[in-house]
Amino acid sequence: MGRIAKGYNEIMNMYQRLQALPKVELHLHLEGAIYPETAFELAHKNDVALPPCKAPEDLYDYETLDAFLAVYSAISRSIVEVDDFRRITYEMLKGASDSGARHVEFFISPHAHDGVPFARQFQGIRAGMKDALTDFGVTSLIIPGMNRELGPERGEAYLDEILANRGDDVVGLGLDYYEAPYPPEPFAQVFARARKEGLKLSAHCGEAGPASYVRGSIETLKVDRLDHGYNVVDDPELMKQARDLGIMFTCCPSTTKYTTPHRDLTSPTHPIRRMKEAGLVVSINSDDPPMFKTDLNAEYQIALEDLKFSPEDIKASVLATIDHAWVDDAIKRQWRTEWAEDIDRVIASL
Ligand code: ADE
Ligand code: ZN
Repeated sequence: MGRIAKGYNEIMNMYQRLQALPKVELHLHLEGAIYPETAFELAHKNDVALPPCKAPEDLYDYETLDAFLAVYSAISRSIVEVDDFRRITYEMLKGASDSGARHVEFFISPHAHDGVPFARQFQGIRAGMKDALTDFGVTSLIIPGMNRELGPERGEAYLDEILANRGDDVVGLGLDYYEAPYPPEPFAQVFARARKEGLKLSAHCGEAGPASYVRGSIETLKVDRLDHGYNVVDDPELMKQARDLGIMFTCCPSTTKYTTPHRDLTSPTHPIRRMKEAGLVVSINSDDPPMFKTDLNAEYQIALEDLKFSPEDIKASVLATIDHAWVDDAIKRQWRTEWAEDIDRVIASL
């Protein structure tokens, strides 16, 4: 039988089939999405030193969260000019779009750029978002991430700067960087102020920190979404609470190979698998794709093949990302209607 006569399923491999699945990316860091070649070029142009390495592809070589964050901070310092920010934003959104993302809510780390004025950063980021919308039709929104390691006082000043540069495209506030010993509770006040200002809230927690940080993020920070959250599995009562609340966990499978002890994605006890099996709302995201040698579509493939998500689980995760996106309900209804045929066709092919 010739290739043309074969069915869709036989011709397309799993990665290609999943590419056509409409996706919403809710956990992606701008500075973690810089391709190593781009980092090399921009560091050279701006005369900024990168960690010593022979070739760009050797730059992203680490095995722990803190070693990863050191490289993340180093490459962030090489992004300086308006057009640098435009370029990395455009390249990030192109990567997401190539993976089937139609909407992206991404974190930025403006404090990581060694004093580059926030206004200049936002100018470049917004230009990149606009170009990506024109060229790929992908919509996007910004979530400034607060570096917990800098403490709540600097967090207040950071929020002031964010609000001064705010537009309709800034929808939320996140909390990231190294967790232990930086629990969520000291950030209660600054997060409450952000909420009052109309921002949605999320926090990285339960990745390197204990289940109590997941609890603190829910109960004290009153977040709308939890980023990672894996160590929730250590607290059965909290698992039940999170399930009853229906709070979304933005999970990132490949990240767990680098930043957590859960390095075997095929393990029946991998926390993302346990969270899904316990009925928590989990979504599939890419976090820092080139830095963790992945992309959003590959993360869906890992969910299906390694974490044993059924096609129906995959569909539920996609629909949950629509429901938990920080956009108006009318837009969510529109996506659900307009994407339904593509979603069902791909799910049926898995
Ligand atoms: N910033 C970028 N990726 C991160 C992660 N996985 N954990 C904490 N902070 C981050
Ligand atoms: Zn993250």
